[in-house]
Amino acid sequence: MTFKISDSVYWTGKIDWQLRKFHGDELSTHRGTSFNSYLIKDEKNVLIDTVWKPFTAEFLDNLRSLIKLEDIDYIVVNHGEPDHSGALPHLMAYLPDGVPIYCSKSGVASLKGHYHKDWNFKPVKTGDKLNIGSRELTFIEAPMLHWPDTMTTYLSDENILFSNDIFGQHYASEFMFDDKVNQYELYYEAMKYYANIIAPFAKKALKKVEELESLDLPINLIAPAHGVIWRKGIKNIIETYKKWSDAYKENQITIIYDTMYNSTRLMAESIADGIKQADDEAEIKIYNSSKTDKNDLITEIFKSKGICVGSPTLNGGVLSSVASIIEEAAGLNLRDKKAAVFGSYGWSPANIKVLTKALESAKFEVVGDGVKAQWKPEQKNLEECVEFGEEFAQSL
Ligand code: FEO
Repeated sequence: MTFKISDSVYWTGKIDWQLRKFHGDELSTHRGTSFNSYLIKDEKNVLIDTVWKPFTAEFLDNLRSLIKLEDIDYIVVNHGEPDHSGALPHLMAYLPDGVPIYCSKSGVASLKGHYHKDWNFKPVKTGDKLNIGSRELTFIEAPMLHWPDTMTTYLSDENILFSNDIFGQHYASEFMFDDKVNQYELYYEAMKYYANIIAPFAKKALKKVEELESLDLPINLIAPAHGVIWRKGIKNIIETYKKWSDAYKENQITIIYDTMYNSTRLMAESIADGIKQADDEAEIKIYNSSKTDKNDLITEIFKSKGICVGSPTLNGGVLSSVASIIEEAAGLNLRDKKAAVFGSYGWSPANIKVLTKALESAKFEVVGDGVKAQWKPEQKNLEECVEFGEEFAQSL
């Protein structure tokens, strides 16, 4: 499948409805994804990005339906990660020698590192322009959003920002335009993508979005490298990115726990009762981290103003699903979020200390000394948990 997105630009990527894991097994993609590649036809024909290697044959066939491969004059690689550059080596084999590849300086390193080819690289910097006939491309670097090599490319006249991973979503849709799809699904997937991929670089994201705004470029389309193309919601997704990049939180408190014999679960639920008593407006969500998709859970943490994290003690530490989600959250550089800890124990309340230390290392502000219960919590322990939940809600 290919389709026209404007007078001179064609989408020629791959919609992958069956993908459920990405970055190896690291990232869940419940709604699939798309790998977006774009062909610009002008006096010079330009291909922006390719697709992931497994789809190379389909990609080349689709591309051939639009153009003779040897008529591609320039390649732009906005980002060298293999999900966008995987088909490049095969494609290059069909092109005349010396077809230039425009990418950032780090993009050269990344492409050489992945493919060990000495192609005709043309490193570009922010503000560099490339005349392609009646239109012009302008390159805008976006380092660490989310790789050092990331850049975006702006097409004049048709006013399209090819934003690569920025503003992307792992979201398969045959519609491929933002205004045609379910808005809840779209914004959830955009947020999940942001929380799990862009959030570690939130400060850079905020600066980059502000820089893009200051350039005052008219934008008719934002064409990311994954998911749908933004057509109607351009202003909204830009404003939303700014909010997400600035210590984002909603009125949500998330309780995350794991449990062996339900003692810590009972504590979690009593803490929720206490939170509700103190604040019946805040959305309360309770997740067993061993039974919840970790990337969905990260998205919930991203939305939360505070989290309560609980685990029983195991071998002087905490249960692995809890340790793992804190570790995952630590990498996201989340700011301005509070946390509290709880858990049951048999003979050593080491869990409280371990959880507190881990959350503090992950840059959460840990409130209070935690609440613990030995063996199976009795009524008085659960009442203590209710009180603990009330105090935590009041501290937020
Ligand atoms: Fe979609 Fe960072 O590659």
